[in-house]
Amino acid sequence: MPMIKLPFLKKKTSKVKQENIVSQDNLPEHVAIIMDGNGRWANKRGLPRFAGHKEGMDNVKTIVKVANKYNVKILTLYAFSTENWKRPKKEIDYLMKLPMEFLNTYLPELIEENVQIQTIGEFDVLPTHTKSAVQKAKNQTKENTGLILNIALNYGSRYEIVQAIKKLVDDIDKQDFQLGDINEEMFGNYLYTGDLRDPDLLIRTSGEIRLSNFLLWQSAYTEFWFTDVFWPDFNENIFKKALIDYQKRKRRYGGI
Ligand code: IPE
Ligand code: IPE
Ligand code: MG
Repeated sequence: MPMIKLPFLKKKTSKVKQENIVSQDNLPEHVAIIMDGNGRWANKRGLPRFAGHKEGMDNVKTIVKVANKYNVKILTLYAFSTENWKRPKKEIDYLMKLPMEFLNTYLPELIEENVQIQTIGEFDVLPTHTKSAVQKAKNQTKENTGLILNIALNYGSRYEIVQAIKKLVDDIDKQDFQLGDINEEMFGNYLYTGDLRDPDLLIRTSGEIRLSNFLLWQSAYTEFWFTDVFWPDFNENIFKKALIDYQKRKRRYGGI
């Protein structure tokens, strides 16, 4: 039977394809992700919560690769919040082992990919094994010039802001500067994020539509993107959707 060409069908296919392509223009330089839903991912499969955290940890490596592919310069990942200490001790202990496990498994690859590891959050109070693994990774990657993998570990925005104020007041007492010298840029430099660019795009997985104390100051003009997918299932295709949506947004910053 001869093939009948249907030009309208052909057109439709190419349109779908076009919609799935991330253009090289207007990509977000800083993407922040609230990696939520590990527990529910495990629950759905009849597995213990820690299995979800393990799967989520492995997915971090996958998503770092994807972020690199789409030219993201900074990837900030919310790994543990100041409120997560409310969880059962067993779960906290497991979560505190993950950075070490992650780095033991993936640090050589991350170094190969020229990734620089940084953290935000209250570092000093973390368990010694967590701190030393992360510190070692930071030292080993500090000269790297590729993607900045910024891990929010024991991070809480309100705590961060209060700490910044305390440090500012202390510096005024030491007469480093005067009250009148304080402005937004200067205050921002007192936050854990320092002079790191504000996030352009913030993604939260698992269907929750809230910030949960993440980057409150820094996300003043960030574009938000939410998905029902649980973090361990978040993949390149979903990341691409977020990027394509981001590229359609009109960032006005209060202008017209
Ligand atoms: C995110 O997954 C990881 C952390 C908060 C440490 P959750 O553990 O919050 O998973 P859900 O939200 O209970 O499904
Ligand atoms: C936010 O998720 C913190 C991280 C992903 C590390 P939570 O699961 O702690 O947030 P809530 O409690 O649902 O707001
Ligand atoms: Mg959660």
